[in-house]
Amino acid sequence: MHLDKDQLPEIENWLLDHQIIAGNEPVISAEKAGEGNMNYTLRVKTTERSLILKQARPYVEKYPTIPAPIERADMEAAFFAATSSWERVGGMLPKSLYFSPEDHLQVIEDLGEGTDFTAYYAQKEALPESDLAHLLVFLRTLHQQSRETPSATNFQNRAMRELNHFHIFDFPFQQENGLNLEAIQPGLQSLAERTIFSHPTLRTKTLALGQIYLADGDTLLHGDFFPGSWLRTRRGVFVIDPEFCFRGTPAFDLGVCLAHLCFCGMTWSAALDCFNTHYGEFDAAACQDFAAVEILRRFFGVAQLPLDMGIPEKETLTRLAMEQLGLELEL
Ligand SMILES: Nc1ncnc2c1ncn2[C@@H]1O[C@H](COP(=O)(O)OP(=O)(O)OP(=O)(O)O)[C@@H](O)[C@H]1O
Ligand SMILES: [Mg+2]
Repeated sequence: MHLDKDQLPEIENWLLDHQIIAGNEPVISAEKAGEGNMNYTLRVKTTERSLILKQARPYVEKYPTIPAPIERADMEAAFFAATSSWERVGGMLPKSLYFSPEDHLQVIEDLGEGTDFTAYYAQKEALPESDLAHLLVFLRTLHQQSRETPSATNFQNRAMRELNHFHIFDFPFQQENGLNLEAIQPGLQSLAERTIFSHPTLRTKTLALGQIYLADGDTLLHGDFFPGSWLRTRRGVFVIDPEFCFRGTPAFDLGVCLAHLCFCGMTWSAALDCFNTHYGEFDAAACQDFAAVEILRRFFGVAQLPLDMGIPEKETLTRLAMEQLGLELEL
């Protein structure tokens, strides 16, 4: 089935055929569940309850000309299946109710019309430490538990990793990549020229880190641990969207998290303190290197964020990131 919010009878038949609803539970509405780029995600209401239906198609939903690996749906479903019973992990994930590998379609518990954490990018208020504590305990337990629990799935997620690798570690650092930075923000191109493109060795460094990202590890990562994957609901903070999960090095999840805490206005050292307190031991050098690359790729790559930052603020963070990667810039 090609999921379509305007085809309620088709959705109802599919739910009936897959025994998710009974004949006396008609579907009454379907609407976009929230902001998302990769997949087609609907909130489907029956007379009894509300469900999330998330379909992966062989392209990026928002940019249908860009192909995207279809197995991301299988990976996300396998992540939910492997982790749902883990204490302090499963309780912060929505319940996966059904997965159809043929239709690349998941039926997920609706956590309600919560908001994700991207509003904190505006830096109007600080991301509460109690929320961060929950998220870091989730991450620590996920990482730890995955090392102790054998799973049926190997979580290679190779194609998604290749896609991410290109957009995180490679493309933003190619000087002739054709991305119109001025169209994103006036002054961004010249910022790139006097920072990331003034250091020819930067791409060598990012590609070397990229190899660590691509290497298989022993720890199951969420793979996209940033404010867009954190939902505030009436039942507390939840984590969604593990389609980029893989077995790798835990420093990647933490590094991405660190970069985004910075975007939310937290200082680098305060964020690291929180990691020490609530996550525990971690590879601080690798985490900070991944954070540095994440900052740069969000400024100068395709996957832009709704950040409320002028060029001077971006310059400060760019310099910090490059310093972290061992590249000094002239003042
Ligand atoms: N279980 C859920 N309960 C409530 N809302 C949800 C749930 N799952 C997803 N949503 C809503 O739908 C939006 C899109 O979901 P999700 O992030 O999983 O899709 P995506 O297409 O993979 O997004 P992205 O392009 O950011 O990767 C979320 O931001 C959230 O608002
Ligand atoms: Mg996603």
